[in-house]
Amino acid sequence: MALETDYIVIGSGVAGLRASIELAASGARVTVLTKDKASESNTEYAQGGVAVVLSDDDNAELHEEDTLIAGAGLCDPQAVETLVEDGTKYIKQLIEWGIEFDREGGKLAFTQEAAHSRRRILHAHGDSTGKEIVRALIARARQEKGIVLMPFANTESLIVRDGRCVGVRFLDPILRAPREIFGRAVILCTGGAGQLYLHTTNPPVATGDGMAMAYFAGAEIADLEFVQFHPTALSVENAPRFLLSEAMRGEGGILRNKFGARFMGDYDERLELAPRDIVSRSIVAEMRKTGTREVFLDMTALDEEFLKERFPKIYETCRFYNLNIAKDMLPVSPASHYCMGGVRTDLHGRTTVEGLYAAGEVSCTGVHGANRLASNSLLEGLVFGARSGQAALTDNSEFKIQDSKFNTQNGESENESLKTKIPNPKSEEISTAVKKRVKRVMWERVGILRDKDSLKRALREFEQISEAKLSTSSRNFVTLAKLVATAALWREESRGGHFRTDFPAKDEQFRVHSVQKLGAPISSSAQVNFDVRKANEAQK
Ligand code: FAD
Ligand code: SIN
Repeated sequence: MALETDYIVIGSGVAGLRASIELAASGARVTVLTKDKASESNTEYAQGGVAVVLSDDDNAELHEEDTLIAGAGLCDPQAVETLVEDGTKYIKQLIEWGIEFDREGGKLAFTQEAAHSRRRILHAHGDSTGKEIVRALIARARQEKGIVLMPFANTESLIVRDGRCVGVRFLDPILRAPREIFGRAVILCTGGAGQLYLHTTNPPVATGDGMAMAYFAGAEIADLEFVQFHPTALSVENAPRFLLSEAMRGEGGILRNKFGARFMGDYDERLELAPRDIVSRSIVAEMRKTGTREVFLDMTALDEEFLKERFPKIYETCRFYNLNIAKDMLPVSPASHYCMGGVRTDLHGRTTVEGLYAAGEVSCTGVHGANRLASNSLLEGLVFGARSGQAALTDNSEFKIQDSKFNTQNGESENESLKTKIPNPKSEEISTAVKKRVKRVMWERVGILRDKDSLKRALREFEQISEAKLSTSSRNFVTLAKLVATAALWREESRGGHFRTDFPAKDEQFRVHSVQKLGAPISSSAQVNFDVRKANEAQK
């Protein structure tokens, strides 16, 4: 039987939790569907911290300027202003709700990260900022009676009727069967798509489902070509690419090649604290030059006790791999880390589909442009999670939830639309193989360096894969890979996280956003956020 609630939130990272709290505080019933246990998300693993204007020597203009510079000409200034201005308010609120940011002598402690002109990064328990944010938000969410959290509820598609999103289809973890839930509005907070790549800092849940689901629901998707590769993921054979936070370089870490030489000076005067895309490409160049698959992060100039206290999680994880961060050279190489693009939204999380909102890494608000400034994404999730919750409430208070017995978007009856989708071991096996293939192609052909040939070959492979009968989750995955490759092929320039070896320079003509929509060719737009409601009215 189909379920009904007031608002559906998909995902329980910083954006989903913050949106849910906003909705439930108004007395609404909120159902949060999340793929794994509630704490499993990119947010949980965030290390470096959260950027916010709270220190005495900082101000909003400086944070905005740093964000705009990192964004390489493609940030929407209004979105950046909203992030920075609202950011301070929502971080203060989080402190009131009991989050424990690290302090020195009773005062908030700020660290430095690349491309920030001030020490403005708050952190918690050293390098476990995300975990502490999740803890504090889950504790706050538990105080709201209206929130029902459904873990292990994998959402596969959105239900759209007469151009409006009215619900979602998910795999019910208890019934072990597909199920539908209807509400006044759906807020997508499904996070990023790092798992599209063979090497990633992201946990397994980060497969970009929300972007693909929104695309199939008819929403516009923007700027997918901009993928941020983090320069320093631990590179140990057969181990996941555990992140070695940029804050380690912020505290004085040095990058060395296999001969022990410090090499960043050959590439950028800002050395180890150059923007991430530059450090990642410099590492790739250095690896090629020296014929190796990694370079080394050297923290040995720092005191062991300091490192143990400042980076306890990293210290402990490296110990597991027989590395002492205070004594050993740490093998690192770049890995996919963050998606600047996503579901196009206005400044309130509204997508181009009525009833559908998006916040956090799944969205593209115009805040990050072509390259995200480090530690701006936790802030984005908090600010736009809250704002999308507010907008969903004001936009839909009059909306009558559809009768769940109505036919679904494709004209199938509810039972028909659900019966073919129950996963079985065989389809799981095929799905794993498909995803593995896609991840390799993405890494090799749509990765840190791309060109026309590599992208065309990737697209041909994705077309071939798509011809097979695929499960919904595999179809979502390969579709998203196609969208990233299509946008990367379209953008014949290099900017921020997108580097074309055949077009290595920035081109003013491309100072626009890529926009993709089901059934339409890729197009461009001068800015991401626009008045969605006005545009929808004009279309009617
Ligand atoms: P997430 O936190 O990823 O949450 C997404 C949620 O959606 C999860 O609960 C997931 O299970 C759920 N979900 C996904 N698909 C489905 C589906 N189909 N059905 C149901 N549920 C689904 N940013 C910073 O600002 N500072 C940092 O220090 C920092 N460090 C980082 C370190 C690492 C290792 C990583 C991977 C990222 C880091 N980032 C950092 C980036 C930041 O963590 C993320 O961008 C941010 O947390 C995203 O929040 P979110 O709420 O949008 O998504
Ligand atoms: C890090 O700690 O290096 C990650 C910070 C971020 O991605 O913002």
